[in-house]
Amino acid sequence: MDALDLMRIGPVIPVIVIDDLAHAVPLARALVAGGVRVLEVTLRTRVALDAVRAIDREVEDAIVGVGTISRAEHFQQAVDAGARFGVSPGLTNELIDAAQANKLPLLPGVMTPSDVIAARAAGFFALKLFPAQQAGGIGMLKALSGPFPDVTFCPTGGVTAASAPGYLALPNVGCVGGSWLTPQTAVNAGEWGKISALAREASRLREIVA
Ligand code: 3PG
Repeated sequence: MDALDLMRIGPVIPVIVIDDLAHAVPLARALVAGGVRVLEVTLRTRVALDAVRAIDREVEDAIVGVGTISRAEHFQQAVDAGARFGVSPGLTNELIDAAQANKLPLLPGVMTPSDVIAARAAGFFALKLFPAQQAGGIGMLKALSGPFPDVTFCPTGGVTAASAPGYLALPNVGCVGGSWLTPQTAVNAGEWGKISALAREASRLREIVA
């Protein structure tokens, strides 16, 4: 499965921050119950890799990846934890080499035309536009579609349930990413039903666009 395949599984990739390892499995189960299977666990907390390991082992239908990859060593750590893909906020030669060495599908972040040119030259055609809203949002993606018709984007950063349908309607958008499916207050309170409901709404976003 490559990054483009991942982008086609569902309309939204949730960007997840896990502070408490005990939340990892019930949170992933809640998202999967709502129809969201591709899960990005960010490397922003000390339990992130253990959370990936637990989700990979215990939540059968989840396809769990590691986000916020910003150093070469993160790839090996992600693979060791059972991650099926990686997401990075940007792309450097060091990250390109590490992604290829570890054979981990990577959704790399870009924000400028030069970033897109460099990513394509390295063989990446499925790209995360980050931070999407701040980079120009829908207008930016329309502008990028002219010079880069062969690129599919996953805009992430500042995308909401309200703005997601507008992004998903664009032909060069495969899916969107965002943290709105996993509000920290709901996670900390163990409100898994609420998270399933948010996931259910998110998994239907393509129907709204159609
Ligand atoms: C992030 O880096 O946290 C992601 O881009 C999610 O951004 P969001 O919180 O604006 O959805």
